[in-house]
Amino acid sequence: MEGRLLARARARQEQLRSDNRAEENRRRAEIYARIPEVRTLDASIRGVMAELTGLVLGRSSRTVAELEAESLALQEERAALLRENGYPKDYLDPIFACPVCRDTGWADGKICDCLSRLYKQEQTRELAPLLRQGDQTFESFRLDYYSPVSGEEDGRSPREEMTEVFQICRAYANGFSDRSPNLLFTGGPGLGKTFLSAAIAQVVADKGFGVAYDTATGLLTAFEREKFSRDTDEQSDAASRVRQLLSCDLLILDDLGTEMPTAFTQSALYSLLDGRLRAGKKTIVSTNLDRTGIAERYGSALASRLEGEYEWLAFRGRDIRALRKERG
Ligand SMILES: Nc1ncnc2c1ncn2[C@@H]1O[C@H](COP(=O)(O)OP(=O)(O)O)[C@@H](O)[C@H]1O
Ligand SMILES: [Mg+2]
Ligand SMILES: [Zn+2]
Repeated sequence: MEGRLLARARARQEQLRSDNRAEENRRRAEIYARIPEVRTLDASIRGVMAELTGLVLGRSSRTVAELEAESLALQEERAALLRENGYPKDYLDPIFACPVCRDTGWADGKICDCLSRLYKQEQTRELAPLLRQGDQTFESFRLDYYSPVSGEEDGRSPREEMTEVFQICRAYANGFSDRSPNLLFTGGPGLGKTFLSAAIAQVVADKGFGVAYDTATGLLTAFEREKFSRDTDEQSDAASRVRQLLSCDLLILDDLGTEMPTAFTQSALYSLLDGRLRAGKKTIVSTNLDRTGIAERYGSALASRLEGEYEWLAFRGRDIRALRKERG
């Protein structure tokens, strides 16, 4: 699990706990106002409890059995009062969102399902900018947008090639592991690169892997803030984002080549991609640049890492945004 997401999941659990404490207090105030005898009974029950404690210290003349019987009688009286007034008998009991771990997040020395669920939600929320674009899943990926007519020079049609790209991506997502290759999506705008990235991200995140998505521009902004920001909150947010971008199991780096080319961005990108390769973490890079474009823009060091360590998938066809407009 990734520390920052776990911290957020725990913060949400803490929020649930304090909401429940507030609800307990509200209920108690409500009951005390409507059935004042309950308040008196509660005071008596507390008195008996205190006496029980005192007994251990030798400060009461009554026996444990006597005190327990009295406490029980008081509690029954209290339950009866609640019932007579139309309240469930546990109306004043502590409220737990998860009875299994009593909202501690741990049960039997393991992370409780409720906390895992919150963690998963945080993980998905992290992918929100990618998933916001709607239903981008393997099931909704359409091949009829790609022409079945093959070009002059090479024999295969865009549709044939994109069928293969689609199948490779789907198999990649389903079989994702730390032995998966890195992928590089190339091709012009509107060909489904971000779409297939989103489809992969959802499947891989559902398997419980840590998946992060960002555009090259967004990612470099985090690197810049981590390094140069004077605002400490902004700086530490950026630092944890950078840690996540470096350490997540699968990073989707979208739109490489659209960021501002500066000495800083070039070296930050190199060290990010190189660091992830060394750590054995997987990356999917999308770009509108071709081989020559990449080498020109990033120099031979980065180009040869991408060349040697990534499986390239060429996206073909016509801009689907434009096609949709034409078809209306
Ligand atoms: N095969 C597809 N089936 C259905 N919609 C698609 C397909 N490919 C792309 N789209 C849609 O077309 C638009 C552009 O696709 P996108 O993945 O953003 O292209 P790219 O990232 O290659 O520029 C998006 O709205 C996307 O949902
Ligand atoms: Mg895109
Ligand atoms: Zn739980």
